[in-house]
Amino acid sequence: MAFDLVFFGGTGDLVWRKLMPALFQAYRHDTLPEGGRIIGVGRDDLSDEQYRQQIQMRFEQVDGAKRPNSEEFARFASLLCYVRMDLTNPEAYAKLKTRLSEREANSVVMYLSTAPSLFTTVCEQLAASGLNTPQTRIVLEKPLGHDLASNRAINEAVGKVFKEQQIFRIDHYLGKPAVQNLFAMRFGNALFEPLWRREHIANIQITMSEELGVEKRGAFYETTGALRDMVQNHALQLLCAIAMEPPINAHADAIRDEKLKVLRSLKRWTPETLNQHVIRGQYAPGIIDGKPVPAYCEEAGVHPDSSTETFVALRTEIANWRWAGVPFYIRTGKRMASHEAHIHINFRSTPHEIFKNPAGQFNTLVIHLQPKDGLELHLFAQDQSKRNQAGSNNALSPVHLDLDFDKRFGSQRVGAYERLLLDVLGGRLNLFVRSDEQEEAWRWVEPILHHWRFDALGPRPYGAGTWGPSAASAMIARDGFCWSEET
Ligand code: BG6
Repeated sequence: MAFDLVFFGGTGDLVWRKLMPALFQAYRHDTLPEGGRIIGVGRDDLSDEQYRQQIQMRFEQVDGAKRPNSEEFARFASLLCYVRMDLTNPEAYAKLKTRLSEREANSVVMYLSTAPSLFTTVCEQLAASGLNTPQTRIVLEKPLGHDLASNRAINEAVGKVFKEQQIFRIDHYLGKPAVQNLFAMRFGNALFEPLWRREHIANIQITMSEELGVEKRGAFYETTGALRDMVQNHALQLLCAIAMEPPINAHADAIRDEKLKVLRSLKRWTPETLNQHVIRGQYAPGIIDGKPVPAYCEEAGVHPDSSTETFVALRTEIANWRWAGVPFYIRTGKRMASHEAHIHINFRSTPHEIFKNPAGQFNTLVIHLQPKDGLELHLFAQDQSKRNQAGSNNALSPVHLDLDFDKRFGSQRVGAYERLLLDVLGGRLNLFVRSDEQEEAWRWVEPILHHWRFDALGPRPYGAGTWGPSAASAMIARDGFCWSEET
């Protein structure tokens, strides 16, 4: 299956940091369809050979195990070529057309890893140059807009040129192996389904914490913030994967229909819940890995009086029969105590206690997304070594069943971008987001953005290297629960 994969923004960060390494892994794993071409498009004046050299240099900064040796790179590089284009100039598209018509590829993928402000222009120009054939697929990287109206405008503009079946909206969290396994665990096993509901689940916590700050993306982050960057997309997609009903089959629309229902069932915000159930924070100076790091306001590209949030914790509920009354907590931030992503499903306590369970602990199913990838089931057992100690006969201790997917399936498994790129090339839409899902997610976050605009309090400071402002712990404590690291 010969493909042409065109990267608009071909010299940009995402291409060399994520997309090229992912394609190289697929090439190395022999899963990249044969006869492909990878065409970088950018403003710089580069020959094919200079583009290859640039990508090779960038590979030096890629994680060791994923870096090609020179012989491997030489083979991979034969797939790479370059077209210089100013995307705002209609005439430039003729050059791309000439390059694409050098052969008849079975599929042509246009990957827009450019500033979103260019999405509409590029789509219109692709149409005007006759580059929207039935073989064409288009991939859109986030952020897709900054609110509902701008998201709709992009979706409408792209929708005029491409059918929904041709549009691949990326949320790289859906490509993570742990998320595939969440679907497999829920819909390929009967064990948890009877328990997967309000009668048995006390609360659910989604944590995505990073140690990194905004790095070189200060200017971008200033107008984005954690809610738009992580919650509107990644966190809500994870929430959908946990809360959705079993789809009628594994086809893309059956899955997306069920996710959409979850988004539509999210409890609407009220002035009271906006005040009490949403905490925003911004990192102050602190220590990460033993080294001092500056405050967000001191980062390059950031306004010294910035009120952009680098942390969000919130509580929501899903108003349907399965989940009514179960709190879902979402927490994400930069410069936090640790780099990890996991989902904790906390089950209810026994209805009548004859043992002494450790205080404040639950039976918990932990879905680890990163850095570890696996499932842990936290149970209670009797510690036989303590049986003879006075008063210990009834006391239970926590024990963990630990399923480490890296150990079981090998740590060289397919990464998120590798998986998603192969799905685009194969035309599989299951792991991509439909426009109505995306709009519904924006509809739900918009009241928060609106509330913040008029909230003079601003984000609460938290020390870099901590778990965020103490208000996030107070919020969950009001329900009688605590975050996973606080047990
Ligand atoms: C991106 C955000 O979507 O996800 C980044 O724009 C964030 O700010 C990144 O760092 C986190 O992804 P991961 O896979 O490293 O958890």
